[in-house]
Amino acid sequence: MHAIVCEAFGPINQLKLQEVPDPVLKSSDVIIDVGAASVNFPDALIVQGLYQNKPPFPFSPGHELAGIISEVGADVLGFKVGDRVVAIPGIGGFAEKVMVNGSRVFPLTPKMSMEEGAALALTYGTSLHALQNIAKLQRGETLLVLGASGGVGAAAIELGKIMGAKVIAAASTQEKLEFCKNLGADILLNYDTDDLKTVVKEATLGKGCDVVYDAVGGKYSEPAMRSLGWRGRFLVVGFAAGEIPKIPLNLALLSERSILGVFWGDWVRRNPEGHLQNMELLTGWFESKALKPVISARFDLEHTVQAIEHLASRKAMGKVVVNINPHIQ
Ligand SMILES: NC(=O)c1ccc[n+]([C@@H]2O[C@H](COP(=O)([O-])OP(=O)(O)OC[C@H]3O[C@@H](n4cnc5c(N)ncnc54)[C@H](OP(=O)(O)O)[C@@H]3O)[C@@H](O)[C@H]2O)c1
Repeated sequence: MHAIVCEAFGPINQLKLQEVPDPVLKSSDVIIDVGAASVNFPDALIVQGLYQNKPPFPFSPGHELAGIISEVGADVLGFKVGDRVVAIPGIGGFAEKVMVNGSRVFPLTPKMSMEEGAALALTYGTSLHALQNIAKLQRGETLLVLGASGGVGAAAIELGKIMGAKVIAAASTQEKLEFCKNLGADILLNYDTDDLKTVVKEATLGKGCDVVYDAVGGKYSEPAMRSLGWRGRFLVVGFAAGEIPKIPLNLALLSERSILGVFWGDWVRRNPEGHLQNMELLTGWFESKALKPVISARFDLEHTVQAIEHLASRKAMGKVVVNINPHIQ
């Protein structure tokens, strides 16, 4: 089979398309013929050695995908050859075949395309876990999303609206803000040119927002923390800007704000039941047309480097998908 291979940590463009042996089935796993895989920020980090997980070489990046099961291990229950599925192997997605533990596979609803399935689990899963399980976002509350046009940010806008919140979307360009508006954001904020605290104050009649969803970090986090009202919750989701901010803790003391960490991948491992429930919720919302992954850029397997670079260079909006085998539908 063909796969994108990382043989040493380094720049994204050192990844190569290679002929590699097919995976050999383990009893706890399934083998999936991959239709599409989507790009996520951790894919850019993992090949550079900048991610918390450092797999042994050689490995293929690719955190999440959709495809059709071609082999089922003896210990795997609930799946059969021919099933259309979504999977979150963590690595290995940018390849024609991938072997995944049965616990990390979920049925793909017939109404969902391979591209949409590949774009569902990680970003929507993270944002649903953050907003519902961690922040306990309530109907009528105000949610400020930083990096709102990116993968997890766009999902947070859609889910925030489904959960009945007023959503303030913060991003760096007019084009990105238009994208957020089309996803349902109520208020748009350019965090490179507008005064964040003033915009949030006006939007909340001086009260401050209830929840901040921060997938960006860097210079954006502290003003966002300051824009939170009484007992506001600050969700630490990621540091796409590269810098991990150091927030003065008096900002938590004043107004009794909470700083809450979000680590979806670890939560999925610790709470597989909760993860399945969230995936079922997401599938239900997709079927009722309440949400729909927006795929703004598509690449083929040979151009996976360009796909990952597209996201890493701050150009992506919504999801970037690599169509591995378009015949698999
Ligand atoms: N905690 C978890 O469980 C979890 C799960 C998934 C992802 N994450 C993390 O969440 C973050 C976002 O992931 P994503 O997949 O949504 O990425 P993405 O699609 O690339 O979005 C990131 C956003 O960050 C903003 N940004 C600001 N400075 C940037 C810079 N220097 N380089 C790149 N982007 C920059 C960009 O928007 P503007 O141009 O508008 O600023 C961009 O839209 C990453 O740090 C990722 O590791 C965490």
